[in-house]
Amino acid sequence: MQQNVQEAAEFARARGFDGRFDAAFVLGTGLGPLVDELSDPVSLPYAEIPHFPRSGVSGHAGRLVAGTLEGKRVLLFQGRAHYYETGDAGAMRVPVAFVKELGVSTLVLTNAAGSVRPEIRPGSLVAIGDHLNLSGSNPLLRDHTEGRFVSLTGAYDEDLRRTLQKAAGKIGLELPEGVYAWLSGPSFETPAEIRMVQILGGDLVGMSTVPEVILARYYGLRVAAVSVVTNLAAGIEGASPSHQETKDTAAEASDKFKRLIRAFVAELSHV
Ligand code: HPA
Repeated sequence: MQQNVQEAAEFARARGFDGRFDAAFVLGTGLGPLVDELSDPVSLPYAEIPHFPRSGVSGHAGRLVAGTLEGKRVLLFQGRAHYYETGDAGAMRVPVAFVKELGVSTLVLTNAAGSVRPEIRPGSLVAIGDHLNLSGSNPLLRDHTEGRFVSLTGAYDEDLRRTLQKAAGKIGLELPEGVYAWLSGPSFETPAEIRMVQILGGDLVGMSTVPEVILARYYGLRVAAVSVVTNLAAGIEGASPSHQETKDTAAEASDKFKRLIRAFVAELSHV
């Protein structure tokens, strides 16, 4: 594993992904256009990077992009590999380890999610404060190091959450915090499953992010996560989510998302 990660990092460094980065971001469905905000961008398709996963999901470009945003150097993963694509919850292990290998200490995960709370409407942004892993899987299965017993208490870094709130305040955006429930997908949930998530204390539901959080904590990265609510979850007010709706609503909310991320990055040196 470590050998693969070093090969990936060496390859990327030789193509301009060198030097210091202030933060890395994984961009979820429909949120890839953040890359258009970068100055001096350098990009590399995942398909060219040794040992990187392929993302076959529409709404995910599958590119790594480096550049400058608000005077900071950032690394953007435009698209991710999902558990439901391969059955491997560790599908994002190489990219997450790669972040660590490049010496980046902060990883911000973003996603499109369904809301299980009717008052959190589609188009809202939510800072993830904790999660429920309802997938039955874990990216550290079959890892045999002592590090696999990673603590997930305080996994969503308190300083970064404060920075997100400060950034939201600066742009006049309400940013509720919520618990994200990970279900494997790719089918959407049933209304009964959504009632279960409500009873268990979830606020959002989605098919990604949690494996990356677990891996990032395993590698000692500081983690923050932001959801763009693209729909009410199945059965709420009669909702029947679709991938098209997810992509369309994420695209509509993408200006708000870009403003939040810009304001967050501008605040980063104060963390
Ligand atoms: N469920 C699961 N994943 C999602 C949803 C949803 O309702 N919306 C966007 N991603």
